[in-house]
Parts: sequence; C-alpha cells; structure tokens
Amino acid sequence: MGRDVIIACDFAGAEETFRFLDKFEGKKPFVKIGMELYYAEGPSIVREIKRRGHKIFLDLKLHDIPNTVKKSMAVLSRLDVDICNLHASGTVKMMQAALEGLTRPDGTRPLLIAVTQLTSTDQQAMENDLLIKEPIDKVVMHYALNAKNAGLDGVVCSPLEAAKVHETCGKDFLTVTPGVRFADGDIGDQKRVMTPAQAKEIGSDYIVVGRPITAADDPVAAYERCLDEFVG
Ligand code: C5P
Repeated sequence: MGRDVIIACDFAGAEETFRFLDKFEGKKPFVKIGMELYYAEGPSIVREIKRRGHKIFLDLKLHDIPNTVKKSMAVLSRLDVDICNLHASGTVKMMQAALEGLTRPDGTRPLLIAVTQLTSTDQQAMENDLLIKEPIDKVVMHYALNAKNAGLDGVVCSPLEAAKVHETCGKDFLTVTPGVRFADGDIGDQKRVMTPAQAKEIGSDYIVVGRPITAADDPVAAYERCLDEFVG
C-alpha cells in the first residue's frame, strides 16, 4: 500500500456513517473506524463498510495480557480489515502475541501498528501519573523501536515525530499521522498540526483526517484536496 489519506469516521452510529459515505459515490476512501462507532454498532459496521469496497483501519488500541490480545486479534483478523492497532506500552511480549493472533493460517494478516504515547499525554502527566521520568520524545522513540523489534509494521504518531521515527526505525516502518489541518482551516482541539502537503514533505505514510473532511460543507471536495496535497 502506498501513501494514502484515511478518513476518521468518528460518527455515533451506522446511519450517520452511511449518509456520509454515500456522498462519495464511485470513490472508495480508506476509512478509520474507532471505538465509538465500533462499540455502538459492533462488527457488522466493519463488514458493511468492507462490503462497500473501502479499506479499513480498525482503531481499537488493544492493551491487555498477551494471551487475551492474541485471541482478540485473531477475531479482528477474521473481519479482514487492512490495519489494526494496539498500545506499545503493553510490552514487546504483548505486541508479539498480537502479531501471532493476527496472522491467518495462510500467513497473511492485516498491518499492525502501535500507539506510542497518546498526544493527550504530556511530560507532566507521564512523570506524575505514570512515573516515567525520561523526556517524552525519547519514550516515544523507544516505544517505536520496541514495536519494530516485535515485528510490527509502524506507529501512529504526530506528523512532527514522523521524520524522527523513520530515522530511528527505518524508512519502511510506517508512520500514520493524525493532527492534519488545511492551511486555511480551523485547528479545533488539535494542538500541533500540519497541512497534508507538509505531512507529505516530512514523509508520513498515511494521514488520518477527521473533521476537516467530515465537517466540511463539501466533504468530497475536502477529501480530494487532501489527496491532491498529500498524494499529489
Ligand atoms: O477530526 P480530527 O482530524 O482531529 O480527527 C483525528 C482522528 O485521529 C480522531 O479519530 C482522533 O481520535 C485520532 N487521533 C488523534 N491524535 C492521536 C491519536 C489519534 O487525533 N494522537
């Protein structure tokens, strides 16, 4: 899979999601299904979006004991999605177990990427709540390397970290980056943002874009603009 734009379908239910996707007519954008939509609708929403011909990033961020994660990943793998994820803080052993669970009898599997530190976690929360005293960028790169050493395909990271992740883990290690806004757009609650063109320049492999597309007056035009800027 090459560079692509993934639309974050952060909707509360199926009806709203399909009303949105119906606008795209012949086009089949890559979509991200997160916890809200998945917990509301269950696996049927994944099957239906897949049936319509979309690629799917199932963003459920697993984190549990290795055996539970392995068995749960085996279930998700049968949904035939394209990308799954988990928390790197679950340890290398948990990530290895996840890969085992995800791998089908014929050897194929969805891509597996890791969340390092959530961008909602800052240095202060890491030190006070988690008792991790290292600088946050060092922690992020360490978790990315753990993911690579466990055999994962990449990480979710801020576009500002993507170049460093590639330097640390190699250029084939995927960087999937949210926090993308158009130069003339509203940044909303995102703190550190990049335009699709900047994300391309620094080497993001996939950008995850929600509200700049889902809340646009013309979502299809906004999606096309993202593709133009990012894929070009
Ligand atoms: O609407 P917006 O473009 O901000 O949506 C970004 C998407 O990426 C949301 O689904 C959000 O949960 C997700 N995300 C993020 N920052 C992270 C990890 C995930 O914005 N660090």
